[in-house]
Amino acid sequence: MSQMIKFFLNGQKQEASVRPDMTVLDWLRSAPRLTGTKEGCAEGDCGACSVLIGDPHGDSVQYHAANSCILAMGQIDGRSLVTVEGLKTEVLHPVQAAMAENGSSQCGFCTPGIVISLAGLAANNVKPDDHAIHDALAGNLCRCTGYRPIVEAARKVAGGGGAAISGPQVAAFANLDPQKAISADGSTFHQPGTLADLLQLRKDKPDALLLGGGTDLGVALADYHTDWDEVISLAHVREMRVIGETENHLSFGAAVTWEEVLARVAGSYPSFATLIRRFGSTQIRSMGTIGGNIGTASPIGDGPPALIALGADVELASLNGRRFMALEDFFLDYRKTELRADEVIASVSIPKPKPGQEFRVYKISKRYDQDISTVCAAFSITREDGQVRSARIAFGGMAAIPRRALEAERVLVGSQFDAKAVDACAAAITAAFKPLSDWRGSADYRLQVAANLVERFWRDVSGETVEVMAL
Ligand SMILES: Cc1cc2nc3c(=O)[nH]c(=O)nc-3n(C[C@H](O)[C@H](O)[C@H](O)COP(=O)(O)OP(=O)(O)OC[C@H]3O[C@@H](n4cnc5c(N)ncnc54)[C@H](O)[C@@H]3O)c2cc1C
Ligand code: FES
Ligand code: FES
Repeated sequence: MSQMIKFFLNGQKQEASVRPDMTVLDWLRSAPRLTGTKEGCAEGDCGACSVLIGDPHGDSVQYHAANSCILAMGQIDGRSLVTVEGLKTEVLHPVQAAMAENGSSQCGFCTPGIVISLAGLAANNVKPDDHAIHDALAGNLCRCTGYRPIVEAARKVAGGGGAAISGPQVAAFANLDPQKAISADGSTFHQPGTLADLLQLRKDKPDALLLGGGTDLGVALADYHTDWDEVISLAHVREMRVIGETENHLSFGAAVTWEEVLARVAGSYPSFATLIRRFGSTQIRSMGTIGGNIGTASPIGDGPPALIALGADVELASLNGRRFMALEDFFLDYRKTELRADEVIASVSIPKPKPGQEFRVYKISKRYDQDISTVCAAFSITREDGQVRSARIAFGGMAAIPRRALEAERVLVGSQFDAKAVDACAAAITAAFKPLSDWRGSADYRLQVAANLVERFWRDVSGETVEVMAL
């Protein structure tokens, strides 16, 4: 078992012998003293700690921004890490130059993180529009300059046609495969490469922490509320990184990230794509996985309501075999699920859109970007000659688990989806749920919003309201 985490740091091969559960932010600021990367919130929200993580993809190395405060050192083994110090070669990176020329920085605390996010954008998109620029900045908080000069700097870079990240070429990764296990100072980080190896580990080490992207688990790590003595990382399990397609279904390996899900569903389910764009930030979506969102079993997770309304099935796997179930049956009670101690969530599949199907999902939160849902509502109906043939409605934030509104669905089926049916459906929703009051919203507010969203759905599918993608 290796004691060294091996990776590229700003283009140079690097080895670190530290506990693999040390955060990348703590390591950067202490060992190599790369203090350009800042700590703000230490919970994935503000972007001050943003770094770029690169992995070989075909014949190029693809980079995405990540929050180093909630990223463990074990997670960068075999990868390329670029900090704000590594962007500059003999000359400033175009984003750095544009930010400086444009007066886009005042106190400068947020600036390295913003430069990293925009450099990630410039590497992946040669001509980003304003939507893409705003998306890239949604996870970076600037408290004093304000965003106008920052967006203008980003537009200037976009006008210049993007910019690559200087770092190792694909060939340089040849001897840097993620190691099977790393152990230092009492923390062990397993990185199985196949589902069979993962399931064996899961059986042998039922108490080890299963780690997807770590965007949920990493928050407690950043706050020093926990140590990870034994981790099984899912990031390199081949079968869980695959997006598959059959004639009627799309399937997502549990370790597929939300950015990857977003790219795949944008054509089939634009409303789902709009929801995913509001999921955390680019950094969070590039790290967080679809399996992790289900694994948290949070009553306010955004993925489950949309997936349940779409009719998703989840695949659970262990050495004893696989079992499949409707996603709504996976959730049993508050943070309790069907998952057994020797099982993992292996994949999630959703049916492809059917003729006559209308699907919309709405996230109601205090802020548009980077916020937690107060209520998340998803509606899917199929109609023939105006009559509703099938309906699935699911809510997050309305009960201890993400839940279907079965009676409200029954009310819609067979109806012409007219004003009367909308009122009856809304009444069935009000009768079916007893949500909690918390600082995000009172029980009455949640009930009112949930009922009102039926009308919103009706107006949207009747073509009365603004385009979903433009929201
Ligand atoms: C700043 C910030 C913003 C966020 N915004 C949103 C948001 O808008 N909407 C939202 O829904 N969530 C949001 N989240 C929560 C989180 O990002 C998501 O739930 C994400 O999908 C979790 O995935 P992960 O891979 O990072 O999970 P991890 O943190 O790795 O794991 C979460 C849990 O799932 C378990 N798990 C992971 N993978 C599996 C598997 N394959 N099988 C079994 N168990 C598994 C883990 O053991 C753990 O218990 C946000 C988090 C942060 C920090
Ligand atoms: S310090 Fe705020 S996102 Fe990491
Ligand atoms: S320049 Fe001060 S927080 Fe952005």
